[in-house]
Amino acid sequence: MTARISRRTLFGAGLAGAGAIAAAGVGVPLGVNWRGNPSAGVLLTSDHPLPEAYRRPLAVPPVLRPVRTDGGADYYEIIQRVARAEMLPGVQTPIWGYDGIFPGPTVISRSGRRTVVKHRNELPAPSVVHLHGGRTPPESDGYPIDLVLPAGVRDDSAWGATASRMHGEISRGEREYAYPLDQRAATLWYHDHRMGFTGASVWRGLAGFHLVRDDEEAALGLPSGDRELPLMIVDRAFAADGSMQYPALDPTMVEPGVRDHWASGVMGDAILVNGVIWPYREVPAVRHRLRLLNASNSRRYRLALDPPPPGGGGLVQVGADGGLLDRPLRHDAIEIAPAERFDVVVDFGRYRPGQAVELVNEIGSGGTRRVMQFRVGDRVADGSRVPEVLSRSETLAPASAVAHRQFRFRTGRVGTMAGWLTDGRPFDPHRFDATPELGATEIWTLQSDFHHPIHLHLVHFTVLSRNRKAPAEFDAGWKDTVDLRPNEEVQVITRFSGYRGRYLFHCHNLEHEDMAMMANFRTT
Ligand code: C2O
Ligand code: CU
Repeated sequence: MTARISRRTLFGAGLAGAGAIAAAGVGVPLGVNWRGNPSAGVLLTSDHPLPEAYRRPLAVPPVLRPVRTDGGADYYEIIQRVARAEMLPGVQTPIWGYDGIFPGPTVISRSGRRTVVKHRNELPAPSVVHLHGGRTPPESDGYPIDLVLPAGVRDDSAWGATASRMHGEISRGEREYAYPLDQRAATLWYHDHRMGFTGASVWRGLAGFHLVRDDEEAALGLPSGDRELPLMIVDRAFAADGSMQYPALDPTMVEPGVRDHWASGVMGDAILVNGVIWPYREVPAVRHRLRLLNASNSRRYRLALDPPPPGGGGLVQVGADGGLLDRPLRHDAIEIAPAERFDVVVDFGRYRPGQAVELVNEIGSGGTRRVMQFRVGDRVADGSRVPEVLSRSETLAPASAVAHRQFRFRTGRVGTMAGWLTDGRPFDPHRFDATPELGATEIWTLQSDFHHPIHLHLVHFTVLSRNRKAPAEFDAGWKDTVDLRPNEEVQVITRFSGYRGRYLFHCHNLEHEDMAMMANFRTT
């Protein structure tokens, strides 16, 4: 079913309009055999030949410099623009990039130091910036209808009318996002969040790292400098002309939705790390800190070192989405769903100098099994450590919860069509599905039919239980996204502290999100 939906149908009026977005997902989950699929997504195959693996070095995104700083804050500017990147040898692939690069520049903040980022939109479509994992006041959180319209575009009636009818706060050309970052050291990331188009925008390149550092982390002696690597892992597919393929119903990005079964999630057949297809990295035979981020639209990974170091446990997890774990956790493999971060230390000193070590995706096959390669170099001095106690974070007692809520993330009917729903309802910017009191502790039970990585804005939570048993191997620490696999039930506990206002919670499979699997809570 590829029926095009007219803009009038889509944005007819508030609720009905939001409902119709889900209509783009017509029949989707029903036509696909889900059994054994490790991700809720359908493969898009490249028409352009893909390069051989491990021929190009890993790129590390540049760290952004503030344009000015004063006693209270650091100020940054980013220009969102169309650019080109050589992802395929000799081919200039068009991208949408923060400052024209993918990933965008890395922003580094001190915990508690106000960081103001002015984004200028020179793209041919509206944009919205969300700092994922940030404890951010609502006006800077990147609400999906708070559009930044393209700079200098005179006839923007289509976009403007749509959003203003939904009472979004419209900016023309640029917008300042202010982040208090009153939170622990953590690996955050920023990405586009435009209603109905997050999948298409992020696919084109609108994603970057934003790291928060603090004294607790600095005192640990974890690997740093060029032994600390942010690794943004995505999958993409390339058209015959070398552009990144995306099965959008409307490539001009006025009407949302993707074709056919891709409404269940878009997966590519090439794996990129920091924008490079299957890169390699030469590393001295010492400890490295790898900040793993799955920025894929819908693909899940099971990441492992191949070969594993003698004795195993090669991936030593030191942090999760929301910052340091209390104690390191040794893994042979890490399952990572879209938007999750795992902060790990790998000691390449456990390998022979000269050895090649692959980071593989054990639930991929062929090319999607490969991620990147490390070429282990000489043994050199290593002053880094991984202390047995990393942090003493707070524990929320279940008895302190003042409310229990339950949400079901499932496919379902929207009118006569199928879509992705929260408790049977499509996204509506004006409906609040929870109104926690500011500062209150609550327990939320989240249930799924398929793979739905569920993300809460504003807060971090810990997993209390999975399928009524103890949390699983990959649930440790403070998180903002939790990996729900088909027919699972996860309980999380969180305190709704920070700021009053409207915030999202949603599935971070970007095609599900774009096709209405989002809802609001309001802290009061
Ligand atoms: Cu990473 Cu609401 O998003
Ligand atoms: Cu989902």
